[in-house]
Amino acid sequence: QHIQVTIVGSSNVDITALMARLPGPGETVLADSYQLSPGGKGANQALAAALAGAITEFIGAVGNDSHAGIALGQLEEAGVKLDRVTRASEPTGVAIIQVDSAAENSIAVVSGANSTVTGEAVQAAGSIEGILVLQGEIPASGIKAAMDAATDRIVLNLAPVIELDREYLLKANPLVVNEHEAEAVLQQLNPQLNLEFAGKYERLAGLLVDEGIDSVVITLGANGCLVADRAPLENGGAQVRALPAVKVKAVDTTGAGDAFTGALAARLANGDDLAQAAEFAGKFAALTVQAHGAQASYPRSLQNL
Ligand code: RIB
Ligand code: NA
Repeated sequence: QHIQVTIVGSSNVDITALMARLPGPGETVLADSYQLSPGGKGANQALAAALAGAITEFIGAVGNDSHAGIALGQLEEAGVKLDRVTRASEPTGVAIIQVDSAAENSIAVVSGANSTVTGEAVQAAGSIEGILVLQGEIPASGIKAAMDAATDRIVLNLAPVIELDREYLLKANPLVVNEHEAEAVLQQLNPQLNLEFAGKYERLAGLLVDEGIDSVVITLGANGCLVADRAPLENGGAQVRALPAVKVKAVDTTGAGDAFTGALAARLANGDDLAQAAEFAGKFAALTVQAHGAQASYPRSLQNL
């Protein structure tokens, strides 16, 4: 069976504390409970891609510790190919997450083993099959090496935003970013640009395409997403479409963006065009915000989609 989607990226154990409200600087609050669950943007996207129906491989690194099993457990169960996940001497990545009763969160990531997914390591892993999906939680050298090895389209979810050379940013098709990340990437591509049109995300999406990125998806949380690509017209200008979100009550949005990106890649691999794939991905992600945790909240059945 051919791999349809390959994710090169991070895997973490998420240590999530649930509390009425997030502490401010220097403040202690009493939390209600905590959870240890699998996370990491790369691993989350791999699980989402598999659950959304793609034959999926995850390439990354974990430590030689008890967290490794937690980090990879759900991927294994979902049948994600893990043969090229390496064991590093650094500990498995950990994310310290706080979630309040309004579904607001704060996340600090300790990269650990994820920092060993370097250009050298990715090169050593060998060829990349199918659609390649990347995020910003491994070294830039690893991202670039994976892009160099890619043979199909590249989905680049630049979260968090890290420095990447222009020629690599332009390989994204699509670039998937939230509104803040979109602004940061545009700033990288064109530092001269005056960003005083804040709030006008349609224009931001169009400008990213004008800079030379083939397609862009800007996720807007409860406001849905924008899909931008080049119009099939002579002028070749950008065309931007807005897709509304399904209205749901969010309890925990951790990993919702990853669910979106993984599901999007799975649908692209199965022949959807970008707008169709984004519509599906939006519905998939909406299901995940209604339960706690990242991977723990991903839908195990596609019946409600
Ligand atoms: O995007 C959510 C993810 O970010 C969490 O699972 C956490 O591990 C961090 O990487
Ligand atoms: Na969730």
